[in-house]
Amino acid sequence: MPTAHNRIHVMHGVNLDQIGRRDPAHYGGMTFLQLEQAIDAFARELGLDARYFQTNHEGQFVEELHRVENLADAVIINAGAWSHYSRAIGDALQFVGVPAVEVHLSDVMAREPWRHVSVLADGCVASIAGKGVDGYREALVTLRQALRPS
Ligand code: DQA
Repeated sequence: MPTAHNRIHVMHGVNLDQIGRRDPAHYGGMTFLQLEQAIDAFARELGLDARYFQTNHEGQFVEELHRVENLADAVIINAGAWSHYSRAIGDALQFVGVPAVEVHLSDVMAREPWRHVSVLADGCVASIAGKGVDGYREALVTLRQALRPS
């Protein structure tokens, strides 16, 4: 029987576990648990099997990227503020071995200039920002397409 090829590792970085307490104008009112539940509902609807990882420690995030090829078929990554300056995460994404999509809940291009730069985008097949939780649905659709056997 062929392997399903539908495992999506949803990776959240620094301070994302605190949404709900953070500025609702940028992040909406939902808690982190509610965000993961919403992503899970999207994934199930699309026939994908989502798994979740969150840490506030950059080294742990990098180590998870090192093992992700053995855990999943694709990655959704919202690394929070690390997205704008962590060359370490950017380097790890270069050899992650599975397709990755970058997501930001908020419209980073409409915020402070330091948020306009992503040092992760080069390692991703797409970057989605400013669509709130729907951005994750878009990322799942993009990855489902990328995983489709040709
Ligand atoms: C974020 C945007 C980042 O600039 C910020 O540091 C975050 C969250 C987002 O999802 O909009 O922590 O990644």
